[in-house]
Amino acid sequence: MPFRVFVTRPIPAEAIDRLIRAGCEVEVGPADRALSREELRRAVRDRDAVVCQLADRMDADILRAGRPRCRVFANCAAGFENFDLDAARSLGLWITNSPDALTETTADLAWALTLAAARRLGEGEREVRACRWSGWTFEGFLGQDVHGKTLGIIGFGRIGRGVARRAAGFAMRVIYVNRSEVAPDRRHGASPVPLDELLAVSDFISIHAPLTPQTRHLIDAAALRRMKPTVVLVNTARGAIIDEAALVEALRTGVIAAAGLDVYEHEPRLSPGLAELENVVLLPHIGSATLATRIGIAVGAVENVLAVLAGQRPPNPVVEPAPG
Ligand code: GLV
Repeated sequence: MPFRVFVTRPIPAEAIDRLIRAGCEVEVGPADRALSREELRRAVRDRDAVVCQLADRMDADILRAGRPRCRVFANCAAGFENFDLDAARSLGLWITNSPDALTETTADLAWALTLAAARRLGEGEREVRACRWSGWTFEGFLGQDVHGKTLGIIGFGRIGRGVARRAAGFAMRVIYVNRSEVAPDRRHGASPVPLDELLAVSDFISIHAPLTPQTRHLIDAAALRRMKPTVVLVNTARGAIIDEAALVEALRTGVIAAAGLDVYEHEPRLSPGLAELENVVLLPHIGSATLATRIGIAVGAVENVLAVLAGQRPPNPVVEPAPG
């Protein structure tokens, strides 16, 4: 009997083809909308594997509906905060993520936001597009230099290190904080510092840490006050690492100069006042949004599925069934 795989939402054909070539029977959720809880509960029933996305809330109820047949839920994302991991553990499921393909693409976007916020690209673009621009002036749209400045990176994993590598092209001094020690050959010229020092001396701060109880609201009102008033804060990681209401206040009152955000505390909702500010660049969570990378993420998720179905350890386990 072929393995039955449910894919909650459309993903690139390359990934679906991989499943089909491996002999799986594949059903994909509807293109134009997310499934209701009841539809999702029904859809995961009697499948061997489920391929899902960050926007699919995989709580205990849905995970349980997949058992006893389902062995693996494979997320098409680096993050996995959409899962109830304790429930997955007690149900003996594999949960996998797909972090490898998106490192460089997300590091590129962090740089796009850094440059856009420093040089006021959003504001300038709005002005030109609205036909309000009255021509070149000597003091119009003065932004901040990026080259030669100090970049502080919070979270020096794969993406943080990718951002650091790019900083060399801008002749920047790079400092970082990371929860564990980083081997010298992976530092790319960056130096570890305590968080307070990073907040106080950085001209640019880029966040690349996972959201955990320790990092939730790591950047609160007090942390924002410790930063230089000229600082540009960039977040392509998870919105709730920043206290968004405190950030709105800091941007409004000049406690910090500017921000570039791809992620939000209550996504897709924005905190009151954020969208009215000129000194923030706002993107719709597109860190990994290139076709090549999204294909890579989806194929990575499917490789996890195929490994589990073949009785092997998947390449990217987040939760694994207890032995025996
Ligand atoms: C996107 O934010 C991801 O975790 O893949």
